[in-house]
Amino acid sequence: MVLLKSSLQYLSKRPRRNRVSEAIRGFCQETHLHASQLIAPLFLLEGEGRKENISSMPGVFRYTLDSLLQEIEELLKVGVNSINLYPVVPHEYKDSTGSFAIQDDQFYVIGIQKIKEMFPEICILSDIALDPYTSHGHDGVIDAKGHVLNDETVELLSQMAVVHAKAGVDIVAPSDMMDGRVQSIRFALDQENFYNVGITAYSAKYASALYAPFRNALHSAPRFGDKKMYQMNPANIREALLESALDIDEGADCLLIKPALPYLDVIAKVKENSNLPIMAFQVSGEYAMVAAAAQLGWVDGPKVLYECTLSIKRAGADAILTYGAKELALYLKTKF
Ligand code: PBG
Repeated sequence: MVLLKSSLQYLSKRPRRNRVSEAIRGFCQETHLHASQLIAPLFLLEGEGRKENISSMPGVFRYTLDSLLQEIEELLKVGVNSINLYPVVPHEYKDSTGSFAIQDDQFYVIGIQKIKEMFPEICILSDIALDPYTSHGHDGVIDAKGHVLNDETVELLSQMAVVHAKAGVDIVAPSDMMDGRVQSIRFALDQENFYNVGITAYSAKYASALYAPFRNALHSAPRFGDKKMYQMNPANIREALLESALDIDEGADCLLIKPALPYLDVIAKVKENSNLPIMAFQVSGEYAMVAAAAQLGWVDGPKVLYECTLSIKRAGADAILTYGAKELALYLKTKF
């Protein structure tokens, strides 16, 4: 008879057995990240021949259309098939109502057309909000007191969605948080026979300090006040359920939660309460924190990005918008 050295040897449940080798860990892995689930946010500049650094987002650039097309080609090569496009609007085109947003011959609209011509297989999401276009930097039209007017703004957003649909966009993504905009955009699109243009609703978009590098990239920081009158209070989760229920009723095809990592509980809860695909946006500040620490040599950038996005996936996101899409896709290729 073998003498047991300690009672621990009777331990019948040893979860570590499922972590013994790479092979076992492989088939025990519950959550997987794939390049096809990543969406790359990209910044489009007017003109040609430029690719600008963004100081607050190392590794992310503003592109004129020619260099953007090259970047898209690289994304496709690593398996990232979807992009979310933002315009860098020159200051002289901005005004108090953001009227540049609904012009149908401006560089962003032409950009959508050209990308679709060259890469018909790519999915383009366009951003529906007025802040890149308004001189005051708010997401809508304002009254004399500086309040963002809901219904007047929704009217413009709906026109903007139709302009983008005509240019060939696959999905419009209202990121403004006005009430009733999904219903109004759906109605406007359907009236023009754009039944197959989808709507990804930024259902739970929080008034977050993590958007700062993005506003720096677009020179779109609000000139006065903040966005708490329309974006959500970071303290709230039931409100996210209300917002997403309304967006579902109004005809949204996908729901988006933003930011991502500090809001994993919101992602999980919204997922539990809906049958629509859930997207999460790892926003500029989330990316910048990782990129800055990586630049300083304090963390391994791709590994931390992988861990963060995997966690966002585990919480319930089906797709993730991340500035690290290309880097991550490359990492996934070498790791797996
Ligand atoms: C604007 C918009 C913002 C972001 C996406 N769309 C900024 C804001 O609401 O001020 C932020 C994205 C990011 O930080 O990466 N409607």
